[in-house]
Amino acid sequence: MKNLVVLSGAGISAESGIKTFRDSNGLWEEYRVEDVASIEGWYKNKELVIEFYNKRRRELEKTSPNEAHKSIAALEKDYHVTVITQNIDDLHERAGSTEIIHLHGELTKARSVKNDEKTYDIGYNDIHPGDTAPDGDQLRPHVVWFGESVPELQRAAQAVGKADIFLIIGTSLNVYPAAGLIHYTRPGCRIYLIDPQPFRLNLENFTQIQEKATVGMKKLMEYLTES
Ligand code: APR
Repeated sequence: MKNLVVLSGAGISAESGIKTFRDSNGLWEEYRVEDVASIEGWYKNKELVIEFYNKRRRELEKTSPNEAHKSIAALEKDYHVTVITQNIDDLHERAGSTEIIHLHGELTKARSVKNDEKTYDIGYNDIHPGDTAPDGDQLRPHVVWFGESVPELQRAAQAVGKADIFLIIGTSLNVYPAAGLIHYTRPGCRIYLIDPQPFRLNLENFTQIQEKATVGMKKLMEYLTES
């Protein structure tokens, strides 16, 4: 089976009703990134950070995967699919994808502030100031904040390096090192990008499908069937 690797961002969950970050009315218009998604923000006001992720976790419980997530899961019939996502939602999992790399962590997991190795499934439940991990330290969201390292990057880069087809979907490619993954493709890899905004990427074998995710995935399936 050919390797098909996906790099997804907030745009793939937009049609499930989850806000993106940098579109108009996006999350970063409502909150300052440094206040709720940085390690400095955590030490300045952990209550604000905890509540920011509690709100997103409660919202996620009421959200469902859309046809784009499901189409990506369905590709596993014909390809070895690796989903690399910047999203912390669990919509790829719930759509049925089986190989998922969460570059920026997972909303449904928490960990001790002192140990980033061990995570605890909390589902869609809140965490509170004073909630501790078994090691006795405060529980924090298992999310990669600005200023923190991206432990899954190497695994993601290796997957991209083996891709026969690389699909970029629903990401502004604004945030590194995730955005830098597009440079790890090998010669001959076919690159598709699905996004309603136009992109000019100076890459070989590159095709943009300028549509929203659910429509773009239908067109991509046609392209893949033709080829
Ligand atoms: N279908 C497909 N793409 C869409 C849709 C849609 N329905 N709606 C919006 N988009 C596109 C936008 O055009 C944009 O290119 O999704 C992209 C969203 O970009 P961002 O909001 O920047 O989200 P993302 O790229 O995932 O951000 C990366 O930044 O703040 C951090 O950690 C956060 O993981 C996040 C990272």
